[in-house]
Amino acid sequence: MIIPKSMIVGTGSAIPDKVLTNSDLEKIVDTSDEWIRTRSGIEKRHIAADDQFSSDLGAEAAKKAMVSAGVAAEELDYIIVATITPDVGFPSTACFIQEKLAAYNATAMDIAGACTGFIYALELADSLIQAQKAKTILIIGVETLSKVTDYTDRTTCVLFGDGAGAAILKPAENGRGVLGTYTKSNGSLHYLLHMPGYGTKNPPTLASIEKRLNYIKMAGKEVFKFAVTAMGDAAVKILENTGLHNDDIDLLIPHQANLRIIDATAKRINIPADKVFVNVQNFGNTSAASIPLALDEAISSGRLQQGNTVVLVAFGAGFTWGSAAVKL
Ligand code: UT7
Repeated sequence: MIIPKSMIVGTGSAIPDKVLTNSDLEKIVDTSDEWIRTRSGIEKRHIAADDQFSSDLGAEAAKKAMVSAGVAAEELDYIIVATITPDVGFPSTACFIQEKLAAYNATAMDIAGACTGFIYALELADSLIQAQKAKTILIIGVETLSKVTDYTDRTTCVLFGDGAGAAILKPAENGRGVLGTYTKSNGSLHYLLHMPGYGTKNPPTLASIEKRLNYIKMAGKEVFKFAVTAMGDAAVKILENTGLHNDDIDLLIPHQANLRIIDATAKRINIPADKVFVNVQNFGNTSAASIPLALDEAISSGRLQQGNTVVLVAFGAGFTWGSAAVKL
């Protein structure tokens, strides 16, 4: 029997006010509400304001998680932020969030795990608590993907949205907590989903901007195929590693990229539709924010309650993929 070492004691989320609907996108690129809904399940997405950045959304989600956990800023030992849309090249977005929270006892760091980032952060936080390096850890998944989305490219611009979700972890009590995590990467497939012009390789020059290298590029079909297999594998692995049976799962929260990938993942481990959380229709693909946003919505709406077992599964650029099982 698994004895959890860390548990989630609070969650929070934040989304920008501005909404971009499929019919808004019909006016921007050659697309249709029907195409977007049937291929992805997305109906709308939230878009950050011009002066709203990942650290703003991340800090807002973090403050709500801290209130729900009853944790004060000075108690935080680590702030781990999963994002691929940092405010600046450096320092980390976690450092900006630390300032916004005035959480100066914490070590602040970013993880660039793309859509799997929150599961990477959860695995790291669980390990730090297991190693007794920390007692209270804030993990955040946040993205402002709209700022790196090419609104002239219909193959990507209909998919992405902005948002943030956060969770606080503490040492486990009463058998509650992280039952297991599973993470993988395959860096040889980096070119299928990437943003080439962001770092030192293609710095922002006039030429790189003219080539639109500062935007997300995706080979959708190839990514789709790999995502279906990888998310299915990650779901199977977490059941094997934890000894959980699919009947033990109260809710499956897959990364919200595409309704068809979500359905395929649930099918792979035989989870009925009523135990699968879906909010992709409202937020689109928010990368690292997708799972914590969904987790917070599932908890605050009462769909998940203390004692329930939730399985999280994600896949993203890198490629990266992974899963986690948590008894809340
Ligand atoms: O977050 C983790 C990583 N991301 C993902 O998991 C996303 C993975 N990929 C996908 O979700 C899907 O591949 C998409 C939703 C992006 C695309 O769906 P698809 O069924 O794979 O479509 P497709 O790329 O094969 O495109 C089919 C057709 C093409 O036209 P032709 O060549 O058949 O004439 C595209 O040009 O649809 C066309 N198309 C569009 N049409 C209207 C592509 N984008 C659009 C669009 N509106 N926005």
